[in-house]
Amino acid sequence: MKGSAKARANIALAKYWGKLDSALNIPVVGSISITLDALWTETEVEFNNSYDADTLVLNGEVRKDLIEHATKFLDLLRIYAGVKTRAHIVSKNNFPTGAGLASSASGFAALAIASANALKLDLSQKNLSIIARQGSGSAARSIFGGFVEMHAGQNPDGSDSFAEPIIPSESWPLEVVIAITEKREKVISSRVGMTQSSLTSPYYLGWVKTSTKDLSAIREAIYARDFERLAEVSEHNCLKMHAVTMTSQPALIYWKPATVACIHAVKELRTSGVPVFFTIDAGPQLKAICAPDNSKKVQEVLQSIPGVLDTLVTGLGADAQKT
Ligand code: PMV
Repeated sequence: MKGSAKARANIALAKYWGKLDSALNIPVVGSISITLDALWTETEVEFNNSYDADTLVLNGEVRKDLIEHATKFLDLLRIYAGVKTRAHIVSKNNFPTGAGLASSASGFAALAIASANALKLDLSQKNLSIIARQGSGSAARSIFGGFVEMHAGQNPDGSDSFAEPIIPSESWPLEVVIAITEKREKVISSRVGMTQSSLTSPYYLGWVKTSTKDLSAIREAIYARDFERLAEVSEHNCLKMHAVTMTSQPALIYWKPATVACIHAVKELRTSGVPVFFTIDAGPQLKAICAPDNSKKVQEVLQSIPGVLDTLVTGLGADAQKT
């Protein structure tokens, strides 16, 4: 029983940081993201009764360190299908893995769809989003293309904690310039980082309390195609999340000097009249969001900053699909 799928990475404009329930991976706050066309994961899964354990090959390497989490995830689909069959997963990302570029988002979205396909499960996108969430919170959003909102939900079983589309990518074709300042995998996962923040940062409660306001402001800015408002609230939300990570104990400082230089460069571009804003997830890469007309200029500026190893430009992408 084989299945395959392709899912794209996403970046959050209103971020998710913190869990209400760690076992079910229910986020404490809702989030809003954009799906990136050029950053994707392709995954093939084979369930076979002759396998006695699950195995995972990621980017050509056997990853025993990731198999426990992958097995727990596959169990969710095995329960749905009523089988115990083990699986072999072959997955590849066309961008750096585990470095704050949302490889867990595209990875678990692709794995959910590929596995459902292999097990002949006819699941709705909502149910796939609920399943993907349990692999990685942000993966719930990668099921969809364009602008996507993840609901934190209220049900203790997580049944209303899923993502849905706000508007499709063609409705507001923004572009994203990614400044890569580090290609190695990060040492502390988002999962561990969030727990650390919720237990120790004095700003954590403020983050949770103010998130609903940011979410509505960002959602409204998207519906109104109001770039300036989107820029203002997204940057604020990003800096607030990083204020929480930096004030966790031990501190989680995701930025490199080049990340900070990029922040200043984006601010200067905006002051000089180029509509662009930044966001940064749990890693050192800066993502600059702008209209397609300006992406060349933004890329030139970011590429020239010392410590920026590479830049990628992408438009917004479509839903994840079986392949
Ligand atoms: O989905 P996770 O567990 O990798 O966490 C994602 C956390 C952030 O990328 C920092 C924010 C977000 O909403 O994607």
